Amino acid sequence: MSGTAPLDEERILDGLPAAARDALTSLTVLALVDSTNRFLMQGEAFCAPGAHACVAEAQTAGRGRRGRGWVSPVGGNLYLSLACELGVEAHALPGLSVAMGVAAARALESLEVHGIALKWPNDVLLDGRKLGGILLETWRATRATSRVVTGVGINVHMPRDAGAAIDQPWTDLHSTGTAPDRNQLASRMIAELIAAQARFAESGFEAFHHDWQRLDALRDREVELIAADGRRAGIARGVDSSGALLLDVGGRRERILSGDVSLRAVG
Ligand code: BTN
Repeated sequence: MSGTAPLDEERILDGLPAAARDALTSLTVLALVDSTNRFLMQGEAFCAPGAHACVAEAQTAGRGRRGRGWVSPVGGNLYLSLACELGVEAHALPGLSVAMGVAAARALESLEVHGIALKWPNDVLLDGRKLGGILLETWRATRATSRVVTGVGINVHMPRDAGAAIDQPWTDLHSTGTAPDRNQLASRMIAELIAAQARFAESGFEAFHHDWQRLDALRDREVELIAADGRRAGIARGVDSSGALLLDVGGRRERILSGDVSLRAVG
């Protein structure tokens, strides 16, 4: 088990279960790219039917949520994107983004990574520190369908000097002694994302609600919600059946849709 074996197209394809292999139209493995999300959003070829995946050894302009960057050095992390057209209306996309966090957690758990939790909307945590994140972007949305790219970054083996640029407590799989082979991790991630997207298109967030509650890192904790229009404190009460955060603020329950907001534990 090595966290730093090079990414290899054949090994990733070989690791896919039959259903995911059938659903995958293309897989692009790159040494260097600005952003795997942007790469799939710009290529005409990736609008062909089916799912299109891209993985890269490094990104020069990795994108994070809320307009932030994603630290993406070469050295053994996972930078992966999956694009496809989904029968999901625009109003349901925030729930899809939360559901993709559950899919990423399941991929890690299937490789015996224990202690994974999720911080709403879709931060992947290990031992309370950020292990990975998900950025869902859409384009060419119509009323009934959306073209969606789901980008997943997982810190597998983060070089210490690069990690110094991360502005929050973080961890990687290597330092916790649980780093799976990245090709295997890429296969599991692609398979879980494809399966989860199909499940979401059919049943919505409801199908992920139970798993989300199991993985919720901040349930019943005092939190601070950071939004464009300011910050407010409350108690996190999990999510509702659409994936919206339930926040108790001064005795009143608020329903927060995922968007340009983030959550921070207090104390
Ligand atoms: C976050 O801010 O938590 C989301 C980070 C998402 C990073 C991944 S890495 C692969 C894909 N390509 C990008 O440019 N971003 C996502």
